[in-house]
Amino acid sequence: MDRFPFGKNWEEFLERYFSQERVEQAKRSLLEFLELPTLEGLYSLDIGCGSGLFSLAAYELGASKIISFDIDPFSVRCCQRLWGMKGNPKNWEVMEGDILNEAFVSKLEPADIVYSWGVLHHTGNMWKAIERAGSLVKPGGLFYIALYNKRLERKGSRYWLKVKKRYNKSPMIVKRIMELTHIIRYTIIPQVIRLKNPFEYVKNYDKTSRGMGFYTDLKDWLGGLPYEFATVCEVFRFCHKKLGFKLKNLKSAQGLENNEFLFVKTQGQ
Ligand SMILES: C[S@@+](CC[C@H](N)C(=O)[O-])C[C@H]1O[C@@H](n2cnc3c(N)ncnc32)[C@H](O)[C@@H]1O
Repeated sequence: MDRFPFGKNWEEFLERYFSQERVEQAKRSLLEFLELPTLEGLYSLDIGCGSGLFSLAAYELGASKIISFDIDPFSVRCCQRLWGMKGNPKNWEVMEGDILNEAFVSKLEPADIVYSWGVLHHTGNMWKAIERAGSLVKPGGLFYIALYNKRLERKGSRYWLKVKKRYNKSPMIVKRIMELTHIIRYTIIPQVIRLKNPFEYVKNYDKTSRGMGFYTDLKDWLGGLPYEFATVCEVFRFCHKKLGFKLKNLKSAQGLENNEFLFVKTQGQ
């Protein structure tokens, strides 16, 4: 199975773009979607922690316990770096692990908040991964997931799956050309047509997108394999009808980007 080196991309993100301003953005995006004033006293589990930015945000928001894990050792190293920046706190554990690995998952304690943003569609078995991640939510706890939207038009999800495969197989120079073409086609031209400044767009993107970076996200989008996708209805049906969660909040995508879901595990579940 082709797997994009997410962790290397996160390493570059931390080296080039990490700032306290981005941590603040990450904190705001977490609280806003969770509809909570703080995470004080809560145990937060970050599945597929990537750069570790959201684990750090949870830590700074007062979570009493944080567990962060990722399948990619480079992502784990990134998160450990942020953990180290905070003086290796004892209530925050960072580990390597696979949400699809039953033995690993069974050792984890269910959490008040399970956060898995942009991860479960990259595992190679999205529905199983959602089920496993959902099993780690405590009764009454929150399940915050973001999953790529499914679109079936000509340049929809299946077309992008092919692009991603081509990107991953290409030598470095072709990757750079694909990135440049993407920027021209999907950022510069649309902005210029609207008489807007594309550089402002990029600056704004960095200010408004959960603390992420434009170029990091671009490579993550072009390369992110495995890649699965689902409509809002498909995810809702699976999580509500099959797993018994109640939907609490939703941010639906316009295009192919992530749909964000906040589910609650009902007490008797
Ligand atoms: C697009 S990144 C998202 C990172 C982070 N959640 C965020 O919102 O910035 C996806 C991450 O999921 C991780 N991942 C992919 N498959 C995984 C699996 N089976 N178990 C745990 N993590 C996984 C990747 O290594 C990568 O770091």
